[in-house]
Amino acid sequence: MKRVFRLSETAMTESERFLAAKGIDPREPSGRRRLANSIKRLSDFFIENPSGATPWDEDWVQEAYFSYYLPLNEIRTRSVVEEGLKVGFFKGLSEVIDFGAGPGTADFSLQDKVTALQSFRLVERSSVPARLLSHKPWKYQTTLSSADIKNPQETLFVASYSLTEAAIPAPAFQAEALMILEPSTQQDGRALLGLRQQLIDKGFHLWAPCLHQQACPLSTHSARDWCHDRVHVDRPDWWIKLEELLPFRNQTITFSYLLARKTPPPTFPKNQARLVGDSLPEKGKTRQMLCRGPEREFAAWMLRKGEPPEWPRGIVIEIPDSAQKVSNEIRF
Ligand SMILES: C[S@@+](CC[C@H](N)C(=O)[O-])C[C@H]1O[C@@H](n2cnc3c(N)ncnc32)[C@H](O)[C@@H]1O
Repeated sequence: MKRVFRLSETAMTESERFLAAKGIDPREPSGRRRLANSIKRLSDFFIENPSGATPWDEDWVQEAYFSYYLPLNEIRTRSVVEEGLKVGFFKGLSEVIDFGAGPGTADFSLQDKVTALQSFRLVERSSVPARLLSHKPWKYQTTLSSADIKNPQETLFVASYSLTEAAIPAPAFQAEALMILEPSTQQDGRALLGLRQQLIDKGFHLWAPCLHQQACPLSTHSARDWCHDRVHVDRPDWWIKLEELLPFRNQTITFSYLLARKTPPPTFPKNQARLVGDSLPEKGKTRQMLCRGPEREFAAWMLRKGEPPEWPRGIVIEIPDSAQKVSNEIRF
């Protein structure tokens, strides 16, 4: 029951177009060696400068982004878009403002999956992505002002991996809907929990991953935890070979996210909960953190009752009436 995602055809078309123009073939060993060096270098840059500006002017940054980070981040945004579609999150929205858009990573999945979205305005402080994607029907601009939100009730504000570099701009709060993804580091993830509360205080409602509008249990009952999701990547052969040259693999990718709107979500059934942890075997039982309200709770399966289910982090489950609450555990 893994959540597995293939590389996007539309994003890969852009990736291949960019690499072909540079004469780099990721299916050839020499092309892969070159890309692996650039990817490793950009990964080191992000680790050393977690809030630093993506240095788009550098060739190696463009190569690493188009070949590796664009396809991976597209999967992250696509999985969030799919969660949104399950609850009707995009209903009535027609305009997108993508803040810190880079190569329009989030816009590929939005354009592919949500046909009602007609207008894409990409806010990107570097002029490099706009130049490299000038053939796309997207409007790039370098700053965002209140006057840009022309149709607030139908506007979706998107920030994918950009609030780690820049504060959320004030005009974002004029939009009806917000889709925000951040790296699943403790620092960025905790900051996102702070933004969640800020959004509630401003009158927004959470549509996902939260199934409630109360305080986040990971924020109030822990000083270290943060909410994050995980999906699997269905890696083609050349990608597996490319990752063999890297000191890291991305067979699974994690991320933190929020979907919020001014309009309240549909009422979530009371017996639903989202799994916000991986399954953890413990002495005599298996536990998996879940979220359905302000309490920090765990689904628990006692070993003597048989094998626990293989449920992936991030899905919504139904708690049967037969489940029993014992301390912070819901025993299935
Ligand atoms: C890590 S990249 C993410 C790109 C893309 N959204 C993605 O998910 O792959 C962050 C982007 O935010 C842009 N950025 C940072 N601060 C910004 C600001 N104040 N205004 C506009 N763009 C900004 C950077 O230039 C960079 O392209």
